Amino acid sequence: MTPRKDLLDIQSLTDEELDFILTNAVPFKNLFKRSVKKVPTLRGRTVLTLFYEPSTRTRSSFEVAASRLSADVINFSVNTSSVVKGESVLDTISTLEAMRTDYVVVRHGMSGIPNLIARNTTASVINAGDGFHAHPTQALLDVFTLKEVFGGDLRGSRIAFIGDIQHSRVARSTNLLCRRMGMSTAMLAPGSLIPRDTPPEIAAFTNWDQVFAWKPDVIYLLRVQMERQNVPFIPSIGEYHRIYGLTDERLKRVRDSGIYVMHPGPVNRGVELNDSVMTYERCLINQQVENGIAVRMSVLYWLKPGSVEGTGS
Ligand code: CP
Repeated sequence: MTPRKDLLDIQSLTDEELDFILTNAVPFKNLFKRSVKKVPTLRGRTVLTLFYEPSTRTRSSFEVAASRLSADVINFSVNTSSVVKGESVLDTISTLEAMRTDYVVVRHGMSGIPNLIARNTTASVINAGDGFHAHPTQALLDVFTLKEVFGGDLRGSRIAFIGDIQHSRVARSTNLLCRRMGMSTAMLAPGSLIPRDTPPEIAAFTNWDQVFAWKPDVIYLLRVQMERQNVPFIPSIGEYHRIYGLTDERLKRVRDSGIYVMHPGPVNRGVELNDSVMTYERCLINQQVENGIAVRMSVLYWLKPGSVEGTGS
């Protein structure tokens, strides 16, 4: 396998790389059952987390993953850095480059910023979410979770994405990877929140009855990203919940059909789902979070800082 410097999106992963990451996440996850959860794989290496947007799961998951691989972790806090005094992304990177970090985990509100950073550093850059574009480690942890649930082979399984697909980098990356694994995918959202470039082979539903009639194995709920909507895309949160939310009544149909429920987090209770979903026996949200650590350990193990391939061009 050619050494790879960066992980910027799902499209650029070869089948061999995909298999390597997902296969190696299994022994990393097995470590979690041991009293000592650390291995010396990245001893002496430094992982920097550079988040220009808020995060709970992704950031802490990378921190735990790096620390379980014995790497040193530096949290670059944008709100208390010279970024607030107007320092550019590239000047920030140049400063951090001088500190000789090996991995930079970056989240930014603008699509393409991780690619820009990757072209300007010898460190391995991992895209932890950029604008509407991509969130590759979320897609990898989602597919790892699905493979656990369905016994490895996802071909022929069906997943319906429900919610704000237009503004979701998670939907873009996870949908792409699910389809690559042989799954059929569908969408349910208000017309204003379905991307215009959705391929015709992906069913775009307008109500839950159509979703149930499609017989999905998994429902993947997405948060309504109000912070990315310059103008309101939905009339009101209450109406959104009534028409598109996973209510108690719909959860009963979900349970009767044995459908699994996923969500990347953070969840908005009372909007895309009701409280009762969180305790539903086939809700995979916590499993997604746990698997995120194993998959991110595998990604850090796979990438080779300083290599010339995959430099974000
Ligand atoms: N899934 C996800 O990206 O969550 P955070 O925003 O909390 O990192």
